[in-house]
Formats: sequence, structure tokens, C-alpha cells
Amino acid sequence: YIFCILSKSEGLIFLNHAFILSIHSPYFCTTMNAKQLAAEHAVQFVKDGMTSGLGTGSTSAFAIEAIGKKVRDGISIKAVASSVRSEDLAKEVGIKLIPFAEGESIDIYIDGADEVDKNHNLIKGGGAALLREKILAFNSKQFLVIVDSSKIVEHLGKFPLPVEIVPFAMELTLKQLQKTGCSTSVRMNNTTPLITDNGNLIIDCDFKKIEEVEQLHQLINNIPGVVENGLFLNKIVKKVIVGYENGEVKVLDK
Ligand code: A5P
Repeated sequence: YIFCILSKSEGLIFLNHAFILSIHSPYFCTTMNAKQLAAEHAVQFVKDGMTSGLGTGSTSAFAIEAIGKKVRDGISIKAVASSVRSEDLAKEVGIKLIPFAEGESIDIYIDGADEVDKNHNLIKGGGAALLREKILAFNSKQFLVIVDSSKIVEHLGKFPLPVEIVPFAMELTLKQLQKTGCSTSVRMNNTTPLITDNGNLIIDCDFKKIEEVEQLHQLINNIPGVVENGLFLNKIVKKVIVGYENGEVKVLDK
């Protein structure tokens, strides 16, 4: 995770996952944060006058910060956010938010993913924001996925698939989900079920390996009580931008 560049600069530094390496060191150390690299690469596609969708999660947070910097440097953009916490971050960094109703035409949506397969299908929702994320991705002219290289997999499914369901008759919906071939667990927030920004629950569905992505997507969304699932089909993905710890960034176009 860490790359140290030796130089004569005075000062600190450094932090990597809450760990201070040296203070007043004669050397300047820097991290090659793969998530940040991917995020900053994607943000170069955000241009003056655009409406941008803001994702959710640690990778998206780097993108929101980078967009905030562009705004402070003088570009004008409007944004819609995929979660309350991304809205809060956007406000902190000076990005102008507009209501969803005004964001009919979203020029670019940048967001992370939990898994990306070789065909650019995704699992998303590790941060419980999959419903708003899918609405934004679906309604954007270009959806750029930003990940570190650990998210690239041969087959989806090792990461349990998040599914947003309404709380009503939860037990029945769980049984129907299990019939699709997974074991289920209700996402918790400490001791109580986590409630999404939309007032729903998240069920993590462990399939181990997902073979037929499109079929499963349809099957799950056909269950009454399911609001949306975390499979994002490749037809809505424009580019996958992958950051590597060695500082490399690869752009996978379809
Ligand atoms: C949020 O609901 C998710 O879809 C995130 O985009 C996904 O979990 C990736 O999160 P990180 O960027 O924190 O790895």
C-alpha cells in the first residue's frame, strides 16, 4: 500500500490507514492509493457545465473530493448524489447539488463497485446505496466505474449480492430470495437492521458464484417485495477505470 519517495523535503508525513510513519522526517513519503488514482483519472472527464452523478463509498469519496477541487479551481457543475452521506461530502467540498427532479439529464456518473467481472457486469451496494446508484447509473449518458484492482474478478458472487427490499413481509421475501440459490442475511447496523436512505432493508445474498448474471438480475427483481438488486449489467457501464498500487491506471472500454 505504501510507496516512499525519498527526497530532501522537510516535514512530516505520513498517513496510511491511520498510521503515522514519521514526523519531521527528512524524507517525503507518499501513498499510491489505487482507489484515489482511479477516482482522479475519472474526474478528468467531468467538464464545465456538466451535471454529474456522485457515487457512494470510499472510492467515490475520492472522486467527490477531486470534483470539489475542480469547482474551487473555477469550473461550474451541478450534481445529484446517490446517498445522504455523499450529499454531505459534496456540500463540504463546495459542489452545488440540485434536486433529482432537475437532474433529468445526467452527463456523467462516477461510482465504485464491489466486484467487476470480465464482461464489466458489477456487484454494487456494499455501502447500502444501490437503489439510488442504479437510478443514477441508468439515467446517465456515461457511467464510469472506478475501482482498485482487487475488485476485478473472473465471476461475480464471492461478494454477497446486496438486495434492497421493503420491510413489509420480510420473511416471505427472504424465502423467495433463498429459492434463487443463495443464503441470506439481513444487513445490520450494530444491533438493529440497517435502514437505507429510502426506508428499506438490505439483504446480503451469498451465491458464491453467479453464472447467469442477466437471468439472476431479472429473477430477483421479479420477486414482490424486492425494490432493486445490486447487479449492474454491463449495458449501462461506459468505462471501468482500474487503479493499481504501483501507480498504474487502466481504462477498460467496452
Ligand atoms: C455503495 O453502495 C457501493 O455500491 C460502493 O460503490 C461499493 O460498495 C464500493 O465501495 P468502496 O469504494 O468503498 O470500495
